[in-house]
Amino acid sequence: MAGLAKELWLIANWKSNKNLAEALDWVSRVGPKINLKENIKVVICPQFEVLEEVKKAIQVGGWQLAVGSQDLSPFGPGAYTGEEAAQTLSEFVSLAILGHSERRQNFGETDEMVAQKVEQAKKASIIPLVCIQGKETPVPNDCWLVAYEPIFAIGTDNPDTPQNANEVAMDLKQKYGSVLEVLYGGSISAENCQAFVKQDSISGLLIGHKSLDAEEFIQIINLCNGV
Ligand code: PGA
Repeated sequence: MAGLAKELWLIANWKSNKNLAEALDWVSRVGPKINLKENIKVVICPQFEVLEEVKKAIQVGGWQLAVGSQDLSPFGPGAYTGEEAAQTLSEFVSLAILGHSERRQNFGETDEMVAQKVEQAKKASIIPLVCIQGKETPVPNDCWLVAYEPIFAIGTDNPDTPQNANEVAMDLKQKYGSVLEVLYGGSISAENCQAFVKQDSISGLLIGHKSLDAEEFIQIINLCNGV
């Protein structure tokens, strides 16, 4: 293990959870408790409608948290009813989760759409974090941050093994180049987080349901911060 001088991303994917009051309550509990090493970045990805207030609360508190979105439009600004243009989002977010399996399954998102979204994100200086479900999922051009999230592990409390996740990450780096940073997501908890971030080729975690609980998320951050 490389003593964790490597960059480590801890990303909370809240999915369609937390109204404004709940989101602000979470941020006010987690924000003051975190004191990160230089190589660690924590990004929270709430629903679109609370991004602005969450961002403001973090700025006012001066906390070490960044804000991301869970998606963005494959198009630029214009006549695209219901879509969130990257250019507008870039006021609030520094990263966007793209191509999550829940979007591919429930909203018919294709590899081509994901690639278009990556392009839009890049134009707006938002970091695209592309979720890939396995080694076969294509990584769009110019994308240097991906999350390996096997479908069987999402929301099931049945994670992949850290060893297998590391092997997938190694294979991806071999295929796309060592600049590719690979996160793991799928049933991450306080109990298993360290085993994953200790793997050489894993550069962080995408955390779903366990990130909703402020106390558990603080524990996950502290455990990873201490590795
Ligand atoms: P989970 O979700 O941690 O609830 O399994 C992860 C994700 O879907 O990004």
